[in-house]
Amino acid sequence: MPPHTDLQQALLNWFDQNQRELPWRHGYSPYQVWISEIMLQQTQMDRVALFFSRWMETFPDINTLSRASETHVLKLWEGLGYYSRARNILKTAKLLVAEHQGKIPDDHRQLLALPGIGPYTAGAIASIAFNQNVPVVDANIERIFARIFNSDLIPGSTEARRLNWEKAEEILPKNHAREFNQALMELGALICKPKKPLCTSCPLVSHCLAFKYDLVPERPVPKKSKAIIPIDMATGILLHHGMLFIQQRLPDDVWGSLWEFPGGRIERNETPEQTVVREFFEETEFNVMIKEKLTTTIHHYTRYKVTLHCFLLRLQQNSASNPTLHAAQDFNWVSFEDLQKYAFPAGHRKLISYLENIRHPLTHH
Ligand code: ADE
Repeated sequence: MPPHTDLQQALLNWFDQNQRELPWRHGYSPYQVWISEIMLQQTQMDRVALFFSRWMETFPDINTLSRASETHVLKLWEGLGYYSRARNILKTAKLLVAEHQGKIPDDHRQLLALPGIGPYTAGAIASIAFNQNVPVVDANIERIFARIFNSDLIPGSTEARRLNWEKAEEILPKNHAREFNQALMELGALICKPKKPLCTSCPLVSHCLAFKYDLVPERPVPKKSKAIIPIDMATGILLHHGMLFIQQRLPDDVWGSLWEFPGGRIERNETPEQTVVREFFEETEFNVMIKEKLTTTIHHYTRYKVTLHCFLLRLQQNSASNPTLHAAQDFNWVSFEDLQKYAFPAGHRKLISYLENIRHPLTHH
């Protein structure tokens, strides 16, 4: 008898009874599986479910998506973060229409060649959309394996990675990859959770070596937590003839192609006011002056805690009234209302919501 039959059966039965109802689990269309997997890479399930439905209403198929503007695609992605995911999706859609008859390939190698699709996503699409016998390993699965195999390897280390992919392949039941791979992910999300795993409800408890040796709290071994790096920045909304200045970031920058108010890092010995005036000149050649301090927003991304000082600005008498762009691909003068048509990075979005919430005079220009 093959060595994993009990474990496989226990997990498949559990998934059959306990899987969450998710929009892409009706029919597993490759397009839907692809989009959901990209969204799920760095975003929680509840949030993805919301964004996913809105996405599918707007771009119901690959052809429609391939004809969308980047600004529209980024707008729908706004709030999900890691925007290169959205840009890669659009690139891939165009490529699929040009070279693959508008269809997602079912071949693992061809999947890997697409923009934004790495080993995890290629494995997920091949197995979940096409039920091919291909393993996947994500963070949930790494955690489950560290526990059931009682591994003390450092999570994310080369050895742990290699072992996990080997194990994923070894325990995969042939012709059940769609259910089995999702069952592992689902078990990680619902039972074998990072904190307070629900071992007494776990279908794999009798297979779990960490449970057997009472080592579950120590598996996986803790990663060294990385220090949070504070960053201070300043930005400003330039108001001129009732319109607000926004610019579109360069395509290959962080937050590439998102729209923003100009600004940047506060240098040593600079006040936020000095920063915003300097940055405006460097990025646009506008000479601005401070009208008022609006607010300070704080947000976290990756290892950074970003404090963003926000100002309302006017042009100085001597200033050019048209920008010369040095840090952007495009610009626009827009009404406050029209800001909602553009995707902004988190700090700028918080600034806009803040102004709406306090009904700042800018909001009814
Ligand atoms: N996380 C990423 N993809 C998933 C899926 N298909 N099911 C459950 N959790 C997931």
